[in-house]
Order: sequence, then C-alpha cells, then structure tokens
Amino acid sequence: MREIEQRAVTAYRDRFGAEPEVVASAPGRINLIGEHTDYNGGFVLPCAIDRRIAVAMGKGSIELYSDDFHEMRSGAARDGSWADYPRGVAWSLSEAGYRLESVRAAIAGDVPRAAGLSSSAAIEAATALALDALFRLGIPRQRLATLCQRAENAFVGVSCGIMDQYASLLCRAGSALLIDCRSLDAEEVPIDLDRAGLSLLVCDTRVKRELGATGYNERRATCEQAARDLGVALLRDATEADLAKLTGLALRRARHVVTEDRRVLEAVEALRAGDVAAFGKLMYASHASLRDDFEVSTPELDTFVDLAARAGAVGARLTGAGFGGCAIALIARDLATDLADATRARFRELGFAEPAFYEFRPSAGAEVVL
Ligand code: GLA
Repeated sequence: MREIEQRAVTAYRDRFGAEPEVVASAPGRINLIGEHTDYNGGFVLPCAIDRRIAVAMGKGSIELYSDDFHEMRSGAARDGSWADYPRGVAWSLSEAGYRLESVRAAIAGDVPRAAGLSSSAAIEAATALALDALFRLGIPRQRLATLCQRAENAFVGVSCGIMDQYASLLCRAGSALLIDCRSLDAEEVPIDLDRAGLSLLVCDTRVKRELGATGYNERRATCEQAARDLGVALLRDATEADLAKLTGLALRRARHVVTEDRRVLEAVEALRAGDVAAFGKLMYASHASLRDDFEVSTPELDTFVDLAARAGAVGARLTGAGFGGCAIALIARDLATDLADATRARFRELGFAEPAFYEFRPSAGAEVVL
C-alpha cells in the first residue's frame, strides 16, 4: 500500500473505530497536449501523475471524512463542499441504476488542489472504484469515467469534459493516453523521459482556480454555438477551411479547437517517431493558441512559458483548463532547476505569488488496493 492509502486507512480506523472494507486510490493528471478539445469531441494526450487521492470505505450511515481538511460531512445532500464529489459519484451510480447501500469513507490525498491537476477527478475516480468494488458492480473503467463526469456535470455543476476522469481511471505507468473523446477509444503512447534525458517540470503558479467560477462553462457554450453555426455536431467535425465561415470570438475559439486537434495527432506521431523537438514545438504552438485564441492563459503562465523557451526547454505550455493553475515544460534534466530558480526570481520581480514546482513521472491509473 502506498503511504497515502495507508493514511486513508488510519483515518478510517480513527474516525469509525473499524477496518475499511475496501481501499482505492486514483491519480491526478497533467495533459501533455490537447486542451479544451475534450468537450468538443476531439483528442487529448494526458498522463497520470504520482500524486493520488485514496478512499477507504465501508458500509455504514453516510459519513465522509477528509483527512486533508480534518472535516466530517454527513448525509447525501449537496452542500457546496469537497464532499459533493464523492456524494456526486454515489448519486451518479444510483441514477444509472446501480444498487448501492449507504457508506462511510475516509479520504486522504496529495494532489495539489485547485491547481489544474485534477484533484476533483482523482477523488471521483477513487470513490467510483471503491463503490464498484464494495458492491461488486463490475462496471467497466470507461463507463466509470463517464459516470464520474456525470457526477461533476450534473451534481457538482461544472460542465467538464471526459479527459480528467478518463485519465485518472485508465492511464498506465510510463505512458500517456491518446483519447478520442468522441468514440472514447484510447491508445497508450509510451513516453520514456529518462531515455531522452528530459524531465517534465510543472510550475504551479498558485493562482487558485475553481472551474465553476471561471470562464470554463462560457468557453464551452461558445464552442457549442460555433458548432451549431457550422452545422456540425461537434467542433471535432469542423475543418480548418470551415473556419472561414465564422467571425470574431466564435472564430477564435473554434480555431483553437480545430488546430489543437491536429496538433495532438501530430504530437503523437512525433512521440512515436522519437522526434522530441517536433513534439516540443507543438507544445509551444498549443500555448500560443490557448493564450491568443482561446484566451485562458494568465500573465503568470505566459511568463513561465517564455522563461522556459529562453532556458532552452524543448516545449512548454499551460496544462488543464487555464485561468491560473499549472504550466509544464519539457526540459533537459540538468536545466530544470535553473528554470525553476529563474521563474521564482522573475515572479518575485513581477509581484506574482511564489510558484511551486513539481517533477512528475507518468504513473499508474486508479487501483483498488484492498
Ligand atoms: C478541465 C476539464 C477537462 C478539460 C480541460 C481543458 O481540466 O475538467 O475536461 O476540458 O479543463 O482541456
């Protein structure tokens, strides 16, 4: 058992005076490329990170304990707190016709929160897997991902796409996952950072964001309207030539989505061919498109990406929804510390918050460990 899973077990014992019946954990994710494409039916390339949320669970009256917030929440009703994620998942499974009994759970995690690393998908995926194991439901992982997404859309109230839940449930160690968000087919794409002498440096700008409170839902609505204007079901079906029919905001938003889908497929080809330089260029292009056309970047994210380029990083871009949160740089291992130091200094000069840095490895998806 990982340390984080052990912590959930200990919290369960302390709070409920009993042993948990199941323990599951699920990772956060970073997205290598393919941003704001998932809810447009397009392509994404996330990988799971080595930070997880663990859920220790047993049957009992509904009580949810967070070892991170040191807080107990009771009952199944929505209250606007962290507990709405596990509650939402139970609701979503029941709504879909799965028979559940009430449960109690203790939750512990080390995925940075509100940083764009999908702590919400991690708690959903771990809860879903624990419920599936406890009630022997036998739900396939792909289906669990869509049930978790439904929990977030309909119970928590964020119109997120499928990427984060899918990545948390289906990624494998050592690989990224190319997901076709329309068919939900996925393919593993191995990434051997060590062999390439590279590290994946993550800069958390510490600009906290909650998706519900940002322009995320509004971006999604604009994309859906653009698809209707073009007469296609999803922007995934639009071509670069179609873009000429749009103007203004709709044009810029749709142009990001349509070109980003192409970049993801090219990025996968580059990775498969071992062409790291080509991959990196696509990361920079993705960032520029998110900054200029989709307008979800921030001065902090742009500053990090510029510094990364100056430091000779192979590629860099914001990761996740934007509006704050994290950016990633693919950079020679021996240059990563210098880039982190340069960023800290520059952020100080500019009066930005003190950033945090992580180096993640592509890690295992959700697992039942007890
Ligand atoms: C958030 C959402 C995802 C996806 C990204 C942007 O992480 O939860 O579904 O839309 O933003 O790519």
